[in-house]
Amino acid sequence: MSYLLGIDIGTSNVKVLIISSNGELVATEEKTYPLYSPKQGWSEQDPHDWWSSTKAAIKTIILKNNINPSDIFSLSLSGQMHSLVLLDKNKEIIRRAILWNDTRTSQQCKDILQKVGGLKKLIKLVFNPVLEGFTAPKILWIRDNEPENYKKIKHILLPKDYIRYKLTNEIKSEVSDNAGTLLFDVKNKEWSKEMLKILNIDKEFLPEVIKSTEVAGYITKKAAKDTGLKEGTSVIAGGADNACGAVGSGIIKNGRIMISIGTSGVVLAQSNEAVPDYKGRIHLFNHANPDKYYNMGVMLSAAGSFNWLMNNMYDNNYDIQTLNKLAAESKPGSGKLIFLPYLIGERTPHADSNARGVFFGISNNHKINHFVRAVMEGVVFGLKDSLNLIKEKRVNIDQIRVIGGGAKSRLWCQILADVIKEEVVLINFEEGPAFGAALIAGVGAGIFSGFEQAEKNFIRIKQKIRPNTNNYDIYDHNYSIYTGLYNSLKEDFKDNI
Ligand code: XUL
Repeated sequence: MSYLLGIDIGTSNVKVLIISSNGELVATEEKTYPLYSPKQGWSEQDPHDWWSSTKAAIKTIILKNNINPSDIFSLSLSGQMHSLVLLDKNKEIIRRAILWNDTRTSQQCKDILQKVGGLKKLIKLVFNPVLEGFTAPKILWIRDNEPENYKKIKHILLPKDYIRYKLTNEIKSEVSDNAGTLLFDVKNKEWSKEMLKILNIDKEFLPEVIKSTEVAGYITKKAAKDTGLKEGTSVIAGGADNACGAVGSGIIKNGRIMISIGTSGVVLAQSNEAVPDYKGRIHLFNHANPDKYYNMGVMLSAAGSFNWLMNNMYDNNYDIQTLNKLAAESKPGSGKLIFLPYLIGERTPHADSNARGVFFGISNNHKINHFVRAVMEGVVFGLKDSLNLIKEKRVNIDQIRVIGGGAKSRLWCQILADVIKEEVVLINFEEGPAFGAALIAGVGAGIFSGFEQAEKNFIRIKQKIRPNTNNYDIYDHNYSIYTGLYNSLKEDFKDNI
């Protein structure tokens, strides 16, 4: 028996997963780690925590399931995008990583736009607008605010590349994650020399670039001891969590759309061409599927909004069934209660770090169930915003696949289908990025001839959810209020910061 192992360095936990080469999910293991928010809008994690949790999760999954490490043919990694990891000359961590959902870099975003000479030029160089969450403004923030740390920098890495370094002792990067740094020429798949020059960032800080499916290195003796893996096991580069999520849900053909309801919300469509959105409203990144790209809209708080409501306002011992029951007690439209899910600002469609969450239309009839359902509906309105922008690119929609924690709620998927007026489908694998990473391990190591074969072996449609046309009017009505609310409140958000 041959196994493949996938690792996803997420925002709330690391997930490790093992699949067998003949198409079965063998086991999964998760370990959480802390997230630090020392100031409003700041979001940090300690890469040491990622590593100790990853080691522990790999060790546990092997022991618990009696896996013979020699049977693990290869492994690969997925990880949260954009988050900045800094190493010094001894390859030691300099400070905690600044994460993708940290919004401290508004000034640096303005500086970048000004230095480059405007949005048009920026998109020409790196195919994306500058956003607080991307990596480049975080690097400039360190230079502006922590010069002593900036001086120590020898390597700039993304989260999964750091963990891969700990496993293999090789410092490498790959195209799909590099695309989210704002330092990468997406079309030509190389670091943008011009961008680095304009921002005065030393090219030496940035790792060699390889393909997502290339061998990046081999498990070292030390990592074998730490994890229980076999020394010499091949480690395939892997990809950004969204690229891996796309691979893991079969978004390897044009016409298929992935909607992920995770901490962040994502709407993603593969593309053969590197055609950016010239208004910068959606992103264009490299796919882990070699030589392909994808357009993507990102909401900062999707299931994140939900977790906030439950943990801070309700009872943190909830399960998805309780929630579904609660929300189902309220009717479509949540009794005219409307939620804007901008708890930590927003990316798509507004790119506004000042925006904040809103409940609109609270009346004395509303109960907790209305709030729960309003959050689900508000998140879906945000996903509809991204889908509309992707549709503007004349993307053919053959099928929409839903993944992420939110996909576990049948009700949430129904609301999604009703609001976007499209059938949505669930697949047999909900593990998303970690599963995608395991498939990349198989393609990279030659167990599968390519992603098509990997998909054929593993992915099945589990359920189709058709939209309920009876709900179109109420959702159209609430969506138009939702859209209007942001426009009315835009300036007030700014004043309230
Ligand atoms: C994508 C993004 C998020 C993170 C979440 O641009 O910032 O989806 O990748 O891990």
